[in-house]
Amino acid sequence: MFTVGILTISDKGAAGERQDKSGEVIHEILSGIDVGIVNYAIVPDEKEAIVEKLVRWADEDKLDVLFTTGGTGLTPRDVTPEATLSVVDRIVPGFAEAMRAESLKKTPMAMLSRAVVGTRGKCLIINLPGSPRAVRECLEVILPALPHAVETLKGQADECGTV
Ligand code: MTE
Repeated sequence: MFTVGILTISDKGAAGERQDKSGEVIHEILSGIDVGIVNYAIVPDEKEAIVEKLVRWADEDKLDVLFTTGGTGLTPRDVTPEATLSVVDRIVPGFAEAMRAESLKKTPMAMLSRAVVGTRGKCLIINLPGSPRAVRECLEVILPALPHAVETLKGQADECGTV
């Protein structure tokens, strides 16, 4: 069992002009496994707004995993990777590598996501792309590794030989 925050990053979503289907997909997929979804918010594509939520949810609320969706591409407003990199203390490249590798089998557009994954203290922060389809495709790739990632991060698993 681990705790999760879902942060949707979208100018239109934050303005109430678009339904947050990607956040709903994350909720739906996670409801099938043993997690507690504690926090949920939508913020615009503003670095400060993203940083504020990530830091608060990691440091004060002490959530285990934070998922972001959106803002990983190449438009001038896309700043999610920069915001994430400014708050993590370690990068975990394997998650993003796996997401892109699997996604590339489905669409060459996977190359356009600059998603990063890293840790802030004992919190794992995972960028997902913005579309509901991309969220589903990427989450399915990383889900099998997530429980053990959280365990090791929290110091609850001192060896990997039994996994
Ligand atoms: N990854 C998967 N698995 N499936 C997708 O459809 N879309 C791509 C990419 N990653 C996609 C994907 C597209 S079209 C873009 S522009 C980038 O994610 C960045 O999306 P974002 O800016 O909404 O985060």
